Amino acid sequence: MAIADPSKRLQAIPPYKFQELEQQIAEKRAAGIDVISLGIGDPDQPTYPHVVKAMQEAVADPGCHQYPSNRGREEFRRALAEFYDRRFGVAIDPATEVIPAIGAKECIYNLCFAFLDPGDVALASDPGYPVYTGGPILAGAEAELLPLVPELGFAPDLTAVPADVAAKARLMFINYPNNPTGAVVPDGFFELVVSFAREHEILVVHDNAYSETTYDGYVAPSFLATPGAKEVGVEVFSLSKGYNMTGWRCAAILGNPEAIQTYWRLKTNVDSGLFEAVQMAGVAALEGPEGPLQRMNETYNRRRDLVVSALREIGVEVNAPKGTIYVWAPVPASHTSTSFCELVLEEAAVVISPGSMYGPSGEGFFRISLTTPDDRIEEAVERMREHLS
Ligand SMILES: Cc1ncc(COP(=O)(O)O)c(C=O)c1O
Repeated sequence: MAIADPSKRLQAIPPYKFQELEQQIAEKRAAGIDVISLGIGDPDQPTYPHVVKAMQEAVADPGCHQYPSNRGREEFRRALAEFYDRRFGVAIDPATEVIPAIGAKECIYNLCFAFLDPGDVALASDPGYPVYTGGPILAGAEAELLPLVPELGFAPDLTAVPADVAAKARLMFINYPNNPTGAVVPDGFFELVVSFAREHEILVVHDNAYSETTYDGYVAPSFLATPGAKEVGVEVFSLSKGYNMTGWRCAAILGNPEAIQTYWRLKTNVDSGLFEAVQMAGVAALEGPEGPLQRMNETYNRRRDLVVSALREIGVEVNAPKGTIYVWAPVPASHTSTSFCELVLEEAAVVISPGSMYGPSGEGFFRISLTTPDDRIEEAVERMREHLS
């Protein structure tokens, strides 16, 4: 074995897919090709000015310069609790039912280490955010894929989970509004999840990364608003997407106090908490005016309509998503996800992501991200129309 060889656990998961995509784009750009990337879901607009201002003030405050406590600043925990009450009608005890996370990604990954042992299973939406499968494998456990069934509104069929798998499952990852399908939670699904989790004693982790990015008057609920949810679950709330704060690493876990205590116990061993200035910026985001968020959603709505109508013009049957920053669409019949995305890259110099990147049930689909300025999206759809019609 060579000194830089990765561990068997690391070898067991494929390289993080977006990195391959970034490399492909860099190579094409280096060759002088004007590539438009609709691949990665990273908001193109800056963080809202009142949040930046709060950060500038907090950075200058020596009170924010030392190791943060992993419990989080009281101001941030209180702001999250008040936001959950106001926005979702969910009561959160700021002392025991919420702590900060250094991004939802960190939180999901560390939850795997906090709750999974070899032999345990985590149930993971397929297609889904890659950490739902990579996290359990890195923790030495297994990820069991739950296919999202289009006929069930991109929810998994919980009655199809084999009894022996349910018996070994300790965690279950779900996510609505959903990446990559753009689906919103079907009526009654959260209730089914609560009773399934109760029956099999599984901790539900609802990844609430996109609740603030919705269209057509749809208002996304919190999983924690479901009766009984707090007894079986936690929710990971991220400020990354709604507040254009992906680079800030600002998130939180809320819900079941015992589960949060276990996550805290793990975290105190592996990191030193979220920079307190970022927590204060998070307070400004949660307590600030709603105008910037509304305008951001209007922008995504406009881009969504542009993409959906261009795709329909070239014969792609696509539903307009009610939430998230993604359009999820079927590839033309003669293609696989990968062959279609390669064709679009070669012919139109537009990067879109193959659905298979998000799990085997994503095969046959592609994902377009709306996080590119309007003129570039217009140019991209124009190129696709020209080369693929
Ligand atoms: C479903 C989902 N969860 C979590 C994340 C990561 O969020 P954060 O930036 O808070 O780590 C993403 C980012 O794309 C996502 O799509």
